[in-house]
This record gives sequence, structure tokens and C-alpha cells, in this order.
Amino acid sequence: MSTDAIVLLKEDHKEIRKLFREFENAGENATKTKGKIVDRILEALTVHTYIENECMYPEVRKLMPEVEDDVLESYEEHHVADVLSMELALMSPDDERFAAKTTVLMENVTHHMEEEEQEWFPKVRAGLGRKQLQDMGARMIELKKKAPRKPSQPSAIKKAVDAVVS
Ligand SMILES: [Fe+2]
Ligand SMILES: [Fe+2]
Repeated sequence: MSTDAIVLLKEDHKEIRKLFREFENAGENATKTKGKIVDRILEALTVHTYIENECMYPEVRKLMPEVEDDVLESYEEHHVADVLSMELALMSPDDERFAAKTTVLMENVTHHMEEEEQEWFPKVRAGLGRKQLQDMGARMIELKKKAPRKPSQPSAIKKAVDAVVS
């Protein structure tokens, strides 16, 4: 099985897009169903941004200083997603702002994943060797096991706070 970091992250993106479609197709009044889908969206995003923040971004930044601006922009986009995720985690699906906030989260993340896939991943693929990407992917698989699963977990909150104070 390939552990190529870019392949793994793209698989995550695919899962996330699938959950977004589920939410969009859930129907106007399916409040309870939508709440459950949002729980799964938040879990998928929390794990995914964690492994990118903890491994992929800092590693690539170190190895390829020329893509530093992309990495910094990505951290900020993750931060916006973190804030919206934390708010959604505290909100009831009955809240009149719940669906709207989810839509804005999905729009932001969709834009971010497109940028990663169309601009960032190709640069990283060109700049790093296969072995480097496979090692990175193997580390991310390990990290996934201890990744936070909810935006309210301390290791998830720490990441959101680091974006502001470090
Ligand atoms: Fe990302
Ligand atoms: Fe990503």
C-alpha cells in the first residue's frame, strides 16, 4: 500500500467532499440528520487539519522554503475552519444559524482543498522525492491514531490558539 502523503491527503479530501454532498442533499427540514452529518464533518476536518498542521505543513516548509507563503496562507485558512468548527460544535442543529454556518464552513474548506490540490500539491510533488513523501505519509498515518476527533479536544484547541499567539 502506498503511503504517499499527497495521495493520503487527497483521499481525505474526497471523504470530506462526500460528507459535504450528504449535507447538501439532506433536505430543507432534516435537522436531526444534518446535525449528525455535521458531527462527522467536524470529526473529519479536525483529524485532517491536525495531521497537516502537525506533519505535512511544517515538514514541507522546512524542506521547501520557497513555498513558505502558501503554507502560511494555509495555516490561516485552517484557522478560519477551526473557528467555525468550534462554533458549530457548540451550536444546536435547531439554531437558525446552524445551516448557514455549515455552508460557510463548506465553502471555505472547498476553496482551501482546491488550492491545495491544484496549486500546492503539484509544487510539493515536483520539489520532493517519492521516498520523502512516503515517509511523511507513514508519519501521518501514525499521527491519525492520536489525532483529536472533536474541535473541543485540548489538542484541537491548542492548534487554534497557536495560530493567534505563536
Ligand atoms: Fe489544508
Ligand atoms: Fe488538506
